[in-house]
Amino acid sequence: MKTRFALTFALLLPALPALADDQANAAQTALLAASCANCHGTDGKLAGVIPAIANRPATALENQLMEFKHNDSTRATVMPRIAKGYSDDELKALAQYFSRIGSAQQR
Ligand code: HEC
Repeated sequence: MKTRFALTFALLLPALPALADDQANAAQTALLAASCANCHGTDGKLAGVIPAIANRPATALENQLMEFKHNDSTRATVMPRIAKGYSDDELKALAQYFSRIGSAQQR
């Protein structure tokens, strides 16, 4: 059952960026963002060693994600690997998603 779910997910994933910029796309971005919660906390609001990413300007987040993905000389640890797993459009959507979440202080 788990394998079937993983397989379905893996098969669906490449088709997702092709979706129009609508409700389905927003739901898709929320799904992508869920994997960021593993480290950045629910809604990107973790207050700890890993930087909070919620409520930051979308352009700043996008620039950082693009740096992680395209600039191999960045001194980051895990983010360059993670960022390379997403298309530029997905990273842009994720930056916008987290920028719209309330301040990191309010939980
Ligand atoms: C395995 C843990 C992990 C996951 C999963 C993860 N991150 Fe990160 N993130 C980090 C760490 C650690 C840093 C600090 C930079 C570094 O060392 O790579 C960071 C830094 C960042 C930064 C820069 C923040 C700053 O202030 O410098 C952004 C933006 C970011 N992550 C976005 C994301 C997004 C979007 C996702 C989901 C696609 C994600 N991260 C998934 C661990 C993670």
